[in-house]
Formats: sequence, C-alpha cells, structure tokens
Amino acid sequence: MRGLRGKGVLVAGASRGIGLAAARRFLEEGCRVFICARGADGLGEALRELRELGPAGGTVCDVSREEEVDRLVDGADRFLGGIDVLANNAGIARQQPFLELGLDEWDRTLEVNLRGMFLVARAVARRMVARGRGGAIVNMSSTNAFEGEPGYAAYNASKGAINMLTRTMAVELGPYGIRVNALCPGKIVTPLQAEAEDPEYTARYVRERIPLGRAGTPEEVAAAYAFLASDEAAFISGELLVIDGGQLAM
Ligand SMILES: NC(=O)c1ccc[n+]([C@@H]2O[C@H](COP(=O)([O-])OP(=O)(O)OC[C@H]3O[C@@H](n4cnc5c(N)ncnc54)[C@H](OP(=O)(O)O)[C@@H]3O)[C@@H](O)[C@H]2O)c1
Repeated sequence: MRGLRGKGVLVAGASRGIGLAAARRFLEEGCRVFICARGADGLGEALRELRELGPAGGTVCDVSREEEVDRLVDGADRFLGGIDVLANNAGIARQQPFLELGLDEWDRTLEVNLRGMFLVARAVARRMVARGRGGAIVNMSSTNAFEGEPGYAAYNASKGAINMLTRTMAVELGPYGIRVNALCPGKIVTPLQAEAEDPEYTARYVRERIPLGRAGTPEEVAAAYAFLASDEAAFISGELLVIDGGQLAM
C-alpha cells in the first residue's frame, strides 16, 4: 500500500490474533515492526515467526501500567528509529451476565481496554509531535461500541469510550499532521474470541446476525490497519471503520 515502505510501526498487543496478523502485514508491506504482549512465551514465539519476514523487535509490557508503557515506547522508538504508525490493538474480553459482573472484572476490562489504549496513544503521540513528522494512530474498537451485545457490559462500555477517545484525538492531533482512526471489527476468529464465549453462541450469532454468513479473519482486519496507516488514507481522520460482514447494516 502506498506510503508504508520503510515506516516504523508499533503494534501493541500482538503475540496472537489480530495484532500478530497486523504485525505480519506491516512487515510484508516493507515496514519495521515493534510489538508487545504481557506473556513472554507468546511474545518470543511471535517474534521468532515475524523475524522470518523482516525487521521485528518487541518487549513484554502490560499496557495498563504507565511505567511499562513508557519503557515500551522508548524501546519502540529506538528500535524503529522513530514511530510513524501505532496500531493500538491490546484488549481483553469475557462474556458475563451484567447481574453477575463483579467490580474486579469491570475494573480490569476498563484498565486494559481504555486506560491502556489511552496510555499507549498518549506516549506515542507525544513522540510524534516532538519529532514533527506527523503519523497515523489506529485504535482498536469494535462493533460492540455501537450495539449492546449481551454479556459484554464492561467490554461494550470500553469500546464505546474508545470511539470518543479516537475522535477527540483526531481533533487535537490533526494540526500536528497526526491522523487518528479506529477499527470496529465484528466477530473475528481469534484465540480471544474462542476463549471469551461459548462456541454455540458464536455459531448462532454468525448464522443469524452476519449477512456474509461467516466470521472475519485476523488478516481481513490487518488489511484495514494497513489501509488506515497508509497514504491511501491520507485524508481520513476521526473515522470509525466497521469491518463486520454487514452485521451493523442489518
Ligand atoms: N476477535 C474479535 O472478534 C474482535 C472483534 C472486535 C474487536 N476486537 C479487538 O481486537 C483486539 C485484539 O483482539 P484479538 O481477538 O486478536 O485478541 P487475542 O487473540 O486475545 O490477542 C490479544 C493480544 O493482546 C495482548 N494483550 C492482552 N492484554 C494486554 C495487555 N494488558 N498489555 C499488553 N498486551 C496485551 C495479548 O497477549 P498477552 O495475553 O500475552 O498479553 C495478545 O497478544 C482487542 O482490542 C479486541 O477487543 C476483537
């Protein structure tokens, strides 16, 4: 895609699923890539795979912890020689009825999905502004930002907030040449998806709710990350791009 070759890309939350597919795609586009995850084993395995494709580095980091995020962004900046693109991807989800939702679960979901997204975005945006070369930030939201899928109160609330965080960032960072957008995928086949909910629930959901009749793949979301990060999207900012096989159109 136009304008990606040679770019430095930080993908937060990329040892598996959509983040790993995005890291692969950016390497295929000729970028340098830096990734993070909490688990050292998963991170190491992902890095071994990515290094077959191109220059890839990474570190263990919990995006909900400010000092770890500062170290992550320092490391990424050094490895990449400047961060041009942030794929702000880390997130967690677990299906649980609202009446049984505990405070710990609520707090942890908001801590990773919303505070984590903010911490990484702010640290990267500060570097981009200081460097003076603009950049592209793509936050990870969800179709759940638009509709109240049952059992996901904390997750839905976190993703709804990410949409407004994204729009506000687009407004404030536009004058620095930084574009900020969000991806809003529907059901995508990933380890998170498999762990978060009962497979029968997912199968029924796909059958009844998705006009294309299937769940999406991590590669289909990675393509949207690449598009929004590229010069093909040079005049797109503040957009919430839905990737859902027609689900929200129904
Ligand atoms: N799959 C879907 O259907 C779907 C739909 C819409 C939106 N999304 C969003 O897409 C993103 C990725 O989802 P996925 O399905 O690919 O999930 P996944 O398979 O669980 O992958 C998530 C990645 O993020 C890392 N991560 C999780 N918590 C982290 C933290 N606190 N700090 C740093 N890294 C962390 C995980 O590694 P560790 O566990 O080792 O940290 C893993 O590498 C999430 O934001 C999710 O909400 C997914």
